[in-house]
Amino acid sequence: MNDPRNIVLMGFMGTGKTSTGRFLAESLGREFLDMDAVIEERTGKKISEIFAQDGEAHFRKLERALVQELSQRQQLVIGCGGGVVLNPDNVQDFTSSGTVIGLHASADMVLSRVAKTNHRPLLEQDDKAQAIRSLLDKRLPLYRALPNPIDTDGKTPEQVGREILALLSAHHTD
Ligand code: S3P
Repeated sequence: MNDPRNIVLMGFMGTGKTSTGRFLAESLGREFLDMDAVIEERTGKKISEIFAQDGEAHFRKLERALVQELSQRQQLVIGCGGGVVLNPDNVQDFTSSGTVIGLHASADMVLSRVAKTNHRPLLEQDDKAQAIRSLLDKRLPLYRALPNPIDTDGKTPEQVGREILALLSAHHTD
């Protein structure tokens, strides 16, 4: 892995971007940055508070600015928020400055991974399964267009991370 460019994990909520990203960064001796965590640290607010107090549009602006900033850096492993794909400029910036990996999971798998969490404002509805299905359905074309797709169903972050390492060393990442 001599390519110094960023490795960027994109995908829906619950596809393992953060846990896989941590494993990858550790394996490669790189720094891991979780975009939501950076935004929370800088604003001093939880993502759910930003959505509630400032609105989703404001969050998307913060997210966009962070993509532009991180696209100027190298040697990072980046875990994106699930909605980064909503702005094609985000995908374009990360694709041209690094290696984007698309993480995929079925709605059932996503539900089992996020079932006990409550920090994702878009899923805080009475019927979480329905919220996942409708959002995933709407966004599917955006996720399907991502390069280097990896199916994460039934796999641990370590297993997914090893698949990514193999992919990177095979240079099938353009
Ligand atoms: C979002 C995904 C979340 C977070 C925010 C919005 C989305 O990130 O950025 O709640 O629109 O899919 P994770 O994918 O890390 O949960």
